[in-house]
Amino acid sequence: MVTVTLLKVEDLSISFGGLRAVSGFNLDLKPGELVGLIGPNGAGKTTVFNILTGFYQPQEGRIFFDGTEITGLGCHKINRLGIGRTFQNIRLFNELTVLENVKIAYQYAGRYSWGDAIFRTRVFHRHEKEITDWALSRLDIFNLAGKADEIAKNLPYGEQRRLEIARALAGRPRLLLLDEPAAGMNPQETVELLELIRWLRQEFSLTILLIEHDMSLVMKLCERILVLDYGMTIAEGSPEKIRNNPRVIEAYLGEEVS
Ligand SMILES: Nc1ncnc2c1ncn2[C@@H]1O[C@H](COP(=O)(O)OP(=O)(O)OP(=O)(O)O)[C@@H](O)[C@H]1O
Ligand SMILES: [Mg+2]
Repeated sequence: MVTVTLLKVEDLSISFGGLRAVSGFNLDLKPGELVGLIGPNGAGKTTVFNILTGFYQPQEGRIFFDGTEITGLGCHKINRLGIGRTFQNIRLFNELTVLENVKIAYQYAGRYSWGDAIFRTRVFHRHEKEITDWALSRLDIFNLAGKADEIAKNLPYGEQRRLEIARALAGRPRLLLLDEPAAGMNPQETVELLELIRWLRQEFSLTILLIEHDMSLVMKLCERILVLDYGMTIAEGSPEKIRNNPRVIEAYLGEEVS
């Protein structure tokens, strides 16, 4: 049977102390869609990602991925089921090389076991070259192969963001959650990122949910946009519809579009 919905989110809510960070959040993602999640600072966007990826447990609501309920599962399990993400505050292994960062993400996704790696078993040696070659080919896609042996923290900011995406894809996700991938990038890097995301979606048959404050990127990339404000979805629709929605302009876009 063909899956018509890859991700289904029903009535998700979470509070921190007295603050209702996400309230009654609903979302349907069809395979191959590229959807934007926007809204002012503190609106609850990253919290939605944290719930979807198992970093936080929702107090209300249910999540289904590819027809299976994943509500309450841990982040490791959800990652292995096929949901990859990047972080708003870049989370790389700073002291490791660019290549090692991608290889570790591959291991984390369960492509071979930690035991094999730690005890340097025959399985490890057999796979080691294979994995290195694979990781290098991945870095090539992100224009980072020439920097494979550099220490991650020494990369310029824009390259660290690209490396984060490379890591997220090492687990071969079907759904990719990108949390402000253009943050800290210069205009040229942002244009290249736009092309890269389009290409990745096609090449790896990805479904993508994107959080971003760079409105030109969001409006050009996304087919559909959801707007959060104080944890609630205040609008949903095409970029054109969102751009002209008075409530969205008042809550978020303001002078940016006027
Ligand atoms: N672990 C936590 N403990 C307490 N409060 C939290 C926690 N995580 C998020 N919050 C609060 O929940 C609200 C939503 O935060 P969130 O990080 O999801 O916003 P955001 O939409 O991603 O904002 P930004 O655009 O600034 O990244 C904020 O008020 C934040 O302070
Ligand atoms: Mg955020």
